[in-house]
Amino acid sequence: MNTTPEPVVDVPVIDLPLPPPGTMGPPDEYGRLRRECPLAKVRLPIGATAWYATRYDDVKELVADSRLVRPSITDWPPRPGRAPGDEPGLITMMELEGPRHAALRRALSEPFSVRSVRSRLPRIRRSADRLLDPLVSGDQPGDLVVRFLEPFPVMVMCDLVGIPYEDSEYFLPRADAALGALLTLKEGREATHQLRAYVIALLDRKRREPADDILTRLVHECGRGTLDHESAVSFGLSMLVAGYRTSTMFLADAVLTLLTLPGAYARLRDHRDLMPGAVEELLRYVPVMNGVVVLQAVQDIELHGRTIHAGDVVLPVLASANRDGRTFADGDRLDLCRADNPHLAFGRGAHNCIGSHLARAEMTVCLEALFDRLPGLRPAEGHHPIWEDESPSKSPLTLPVNW
Ligand code: HEM
Repeated sequence: MNTTPEPVVDVPVIDLPLPPPGTMGPPDEYGRLRRECPLAKVRLPIGATAWYATRYDDVKELVADSRLVRPSITDWPPRPGRAPGDEPGLITMMELEGPRHAALRRALSEPFSVRSVRSRLPRIRRSADRLLDPLVSGDQPGDLVVRFLEPFPVMVMCDLVGIPYEDSEYFLPRADAALGALLTLKEGREATHQLRAYVIALLDRKRREPADDILTRLVHECGRGTLDHESAVSFGLSMLVAGYRTSTMFLADAVLTLLTLPGAYARLRDHRDLMPGAVEELLRYVPVMNGVVVLQAVQDIELHGRTIHAGDVVLPVLASANRDGRTFADGDRLDLCRADNPHLAFGRGAHNCIGSHLARAEMTVCLEALFDRLPGLRPAEGHHPIWEDESPSKSPLTLPVNW
C-alpha cells in the first residue's frame, strides 16, 4: 500500500470551456489548458464537477483506460458513495462492458467493416442525389444543412440499420434530448425511455418481417443464442443517439470550413486524389466531439501529480487532443495534404467508433456529390449561419448557400 502522503495540490475549478458564440470552436482555452493545466477541473452546467484532460497523450490513454467506464444516462449525475452501475440504468452500446459488449461488437463487425461500407457506396451516393435533386433544380438558393447535410446521414444510417426513415420525425427530437442528457439532464431521461420503447417495437417487427439490415441480423443472432435481447436494444438506442448526429455535425462543420477557408473548396474539388487524406484532416481539424466522451473512474488513477478518485467524472477532450502541437505540427492549421495524422476523432480502445468507416464514406460521398452537382458552392451573401450556442459540441443549424 502506498503510504506516502499525497501533495496537496489546489486545482481551480473553471467553467466548461465553450466555443465562442457563432463558431464551431475549438475554444482558445484548450491551448492554454494544454500548456498550463493539462488536467483541470470543470464545473458542468448541471453543477457537478469533472476532470478535464486536454493533451493528446493523456486523452489517448484515458479513452482506452479500463479503469474508466461510460456512465449510463439514468445513473447521471453520479452521487457520492454510489459506485457506477449500482442501479440498473438505460444503457446504450457505449455503456455495455465485458463479454456482452464484445458479443455485440462481433455481431456488428461485418456490416460496419471497410469492405461492407465500400460495397454500399453507390447506395450512399443515391441517397445524396435524392436529397440534392430538389435543391439543385429549385430556382431559389437553399439551406444546405436543412436540405442536405442534416438528413443525409440519417437516411444512410436508417437504410443500413433498418430503421424506417419516415420515423425520423419521431425519433430525432427525442434523440437530441437524450444526447444532451449527460450535460443538461432534464428531458433526457424521458426521451430515452420513449426511444427504448420504439427500438423494442422495431425489433419485434424485424422478427415478424425480416429484411436485409442490421437489426434483422441482430434478431437472428439473439435467436441463435449468441446475443441477448438487451444488447440488441442497446445497439438500436445507440443508433438513434450516436448513429447520425455526430456525422451531421461533422459534415456541416467540415463543409463550412471548406467554404470559409480561402480556396479550400476549389482545391479539393479540382484535386480529388487528395480526398482520403483530406477527410482524415477534416476529422482531426473539425472539433466535432468537443465534450461528448464522458467517463467515470471505477478505481483511483494518478495523473499529473493528482488523484482522480473512484467515482470522479473525467472528460477527455478529443477536439483538444487533435490540435495538440506536440503531436500535430501547426495543429491549428487545416492542411489538406497532412501526411502523419493519428487523430482521435473516433476515440480509441474497446469503445472506439464502430461507425468510423461509414462516417468516412458519408463525408467522401457528401463532398463528391457537392463537387459534382454544385461546383460553385459558396455561402449566400448577407446570410449568416444560425448556431445553437449552449452545447460544447457545435455545428451550424443553418447554412444558407448559393452556387
Ligand atoms: C464523424 C462522425 C463520427 C464521429 C466523430 C464519431 C465519434 C465517436 C467516438 C469518439 C466514439 C467513442 C465514444 C467513447 O469512447 O465513449 C464513438 C462511438 C460510437 N460510434 Fe461514432 N462517430 C461518428 C459517426 C458514427 C456513425 C456514422 C455511427 C453509426 C452509424 C457511429 C456509431 C457509434 C457507436 C455505436 C459507438 C459506440 C461503440 C462502442 O461503444 O463500442 N458513429 N463515435
